[in-house]
Amino acid sequence: MSAFPVSAPVASHSQAASLTNDRDFLPLKGTDHVEFYVGNARQAAYYYRVAFGMSLIAYAGPETGQRDRASYVLQQGKIRFVLSTPLRSSHPIADHIHRHGDAVKVIALWVDDARRAWQQTTSRGAVSVAEPYVKADDDGQVVLASIRTYGDTIHTFVERGNYHGAFMPGYQVIEEDHLARPVGLLHIDHMVGNVGWHEMDEWVDFYGRVMGFSLYQHFDDKDISTEYSALMSKVMANGNGYVKFPINEPAEGKRRSQVEEYLDFFPGPGVQHIALATDDILHTVTKLTEQGVDFLHVPHSYYTELQERVGKIDEPLEELERLGVLVDRDDQGYMLQIFTKPVEDRPTQFYEIIQRKGSRSFGKGNFKALFEAIEREQQLRGNL
Ligand code: FE2
Repeated sequence: MSAFPVSAPVASHSQAASLTNDRDFLPLKGTDHVEFYVGNARQAAYYYRVAFGMSLIAYAGPETGQRDRASYVLQQGKIRFVLSTPLRSSHPIADHIHRHGDAVKVIALWVDDARRAWQQTTSRGAVSVAEPYVKADDDGQVVLASIRTYGDTIHTFVERGNYHGAFMPGYQVIEEDHLARPVGLLHIDHMVGNVGWHEMDEWVDFYGRVMGFSLYQHFDDKDISTEYSALMSKVMANGNGYVKFPINEPAEGKRRSQVEEYLDFFPGPGVQHIALATDDILHTVTKLTEQGVDFLHVPHSYYTELQERVGKIDEPLEELERLGVLVDRDDQGYMLQIFTKPVEDRPTQFYEIIQRKGSRSFGKGNFKALFEAIEREQQLRGNL
């Protein structure tokens, strides 16, 4: 499949003009971190360290003077997760957990100037969650500011040019993590949001008009449908392409689609999956599997048809099938991907592991096989 040029696919949409920006008014240096609100951060941290191989690099809690909550900062490559839990049920984080279970709350974006990022986005209609403020300690200072995005999710702009510590003021540095079992994960490739019926274009417009993103690719229900269900997706990317946010909405099908199941159980809009990049997917997925991460399985027939569909690839087919890794190709090259099962008991958030070999695809050629695998899981949960 060819990657859509930025201008062509939006031409037929009313928001086309607002997606065209002559200059990048919100320059992003990448994803700074992702913060999850969880019921028990100590135990969730153990899962991400032992199963996903992340290292605990910093901690804040009662021992460090943060009396109301505990936060564990985990890192692998450039991927940084913060797991936060409230210490009392009256804390606002507890309300989020009551509503959504363990879930992504903050998609933090790394900027040179947080005040300007907040000003640029709020002046274009973003709803402010926190006006710019400074946190400082002996290692310097960071400037932070936050705005709302879909559901209860927020974006925090992080300016850390004058900070030299491990993560952020107020956190105690953890020198070495003897529990971590690294698997070769490098950076976040993309983060997908599920939004409600007919809300996709509203959020595509938000990322275009308010955040200066452009349409990168889109998929309609003809690309993404099985016998039972369908979804539509548009991928929004920031100016330098470091940050990509596909936005999904459900589409009419014979039965309840995976996006509807998510919206029911989350409930409401939220982060559906986080795609983590590796440069050796066979190694990464072998390790993750050994360490207890559960992946979706695809049928043998997928691999018998694969060679014909994607042509010659470097990886042995038997290895790909043993692990359940999927392959897709576009005019730039090919990519390998695999999806975990949901990582909490609610059928909500999951992970994708992705290795790009030139391709800018999001796996369009795999949608059918993949969604049939997801539907088999939905069926087992009685939710199809
Ligand atoms: Fe993805």
